[in-house]
Amino acid sequence: MECVTTTADAAKKATDCVIVGIYDKKRLSEAAEAIDDAGDGLISKLVDQGDLSGKLGAAALLARPAGLKAKRLVVVGLGTKNTFGRREYHRATRAALASIRSTKVRDVVSYLSAEPVRDCEPYYRGRLAAQALGEHLYRFTSTKNDKTPPAPRIRKLTLAAAERSDRDELTLGAEHGAGIAVGMNLTRDLGNTPPNICNPSYLADQAREMADKYTNLEVRVLEEEDMLALGMNSLLSVGDGSDQPSKLIQLDYRNNGDASPAILVGKGITFDSGGISLKPGPAMDEMKYDMGGAAAVMGAMAAVAALRLPINLTVIVPSAENMPSGRATRPGDVVESMSGKTIEILNTDAEGRLILCDALTYAQQYGPTMLIDVATLTGACVIALGRHRSGVMTNDDTLADEIVAAGERAVDRAWHLPLDQEYADQLKSNFADLANIGGREGGVITAGAFLWQFTKKARWAHIDIAGTAWLSGGKKGATGRPVPLLLDLLLQQID
Ligand code: BES
Ligand code: MN
Ligand code: ZN
Repeated sequence: MECVTTTADAAKKATDCVIVGIYDKKRLSEAAEAIDDAGDGLISKLVDQGDLSGKLGAAALLARPAGLKAKRLVVVGLGTKNTFGRREYHRATRAALASIRSTKVRDVVSYLSAEPVRDCEPYYRGRLAAQALGEHLYRFTSTKNDKTPPAPRIRKLTLAAAERSDRDELTLGAEHGAGIAVGMNLTRDLGNTPPNICNPSYLADQAREMADKYTNLEVRVLEEEDMLALGMNSLLSVGDGSDQPSKLIQLDYRNNGDASPAILVGKGITFDSGGISLKPGPAMDEMKYDMGGAAAVMGAMAAVAALRLPINLTVIVPSAENMPSGRATRPGDVVESMSGKTIEILNTDAEGRLILCDALTYAQQYGPTMLIDVATLTGACVIALGRHRSGVMTNDDTLADEIVAAGERAVDRAWHLPLDQEYADQLKSNFADLANIGGREGGVITAGAFLWQFTKKARWAHIDIAGTAWLSGGKKGATGRPVPLLLDLLLQQID
């Protein structure tokens, strides 16, 4: 995908498709105005007829527009002018692209990037547009013979700049946006791949392929015997009922001398049946997405490596399959974690925290600048925040502020939830140092509080993506979240 910038007049641009915006209350953007003038009132007539409302995200595709050099014109609604911010910009861009999904457009010129977007500098306009295009081009077809609808053919995106001086920023943003989309699409591929294919060994193979593909990237995979030697009995207990061996996958990207790394840990349960505490049947297939955290941190790593960012980043993926069997962990079993703390497993379906606690103990040996775990950890998070925001818990409130701010900038929102001792107290056990469940109340937070007990030696945050990693229903599929948030956070580390 190629991305360039232009300052040319919208009517004079020879292209397969030009995208312009209109606001509500019949207000045309500057580019729409230019096209209207060249095209004998083409847009204003449609507005006057009531065919184009300017409602945010409402897009119309016009063929062979009179007076223009372009073969097609997309007019997309931008909503109210004085509330047009980065979220609206992102949404309008996506809507415009969706309106040309089944066309043969190969190159597109967007004038949305030349609009004044509230609190959104040209860098982010470039980044969000290129990311949206990268996402738009994604399809999952590896397990389907029928490959319709065909993949969109867009190969070149031209972004209009309001000022000549905006062009460098737009270009840098577009480059980062394209890299982020590469990461998101890897995350989506890993998530969507069925669980009979995407098992812990498959994730390890994918990590090995990444290390082959990118420079400055090394891989290490710990096998069950290695983990046993390290005392990771909590992690290992989760895979006991599965025929698939558990793995701990580590990717080290070093492109900033010997500076301490940032570490991302991702929950890699490749299928969560619940184990002996078996889940109910409906929508159980969606538990293939229980490796969404692993997919997100691997996607973030792919983006970082593809962009060759000058940072040090380590990604750690504890991976197992949670299945019932005669060898599976029972409710009531007590295991000793790598930290030395003992855990009473009262519910085998609260397995994510059991693999994460050992991975977090392991990660802290590296003295990370920040330690962030990403996990589809609780159904309670979906109840609390819905599918719109990820949940953030931390032992360092400034880190939470940074994460929430990164989510705002990247249009990949998160919300800071509290961690107090009272929540940790809900995890008291009569038979071990702590239990793996804390009762129904505050379930998203007691899960975070469990991890908190294992992360006292780092600047740590936990991101619960149970609601944001995938969509259900007709649009079932992985979203690629929270790769944009993670990349924004990592890009902030560069000065
Ligand atoms: N992977 C699930 C969480 C989940 C459930 C994510 C539904 C998205 C949708 C996790 O392993 C789990 O089963 N959590 C339990 C915890 C409970 C047993 C304390 C849950 O949320 O019900
Ligand atoms: Mn579970
Ligand atoms: Zn799970």
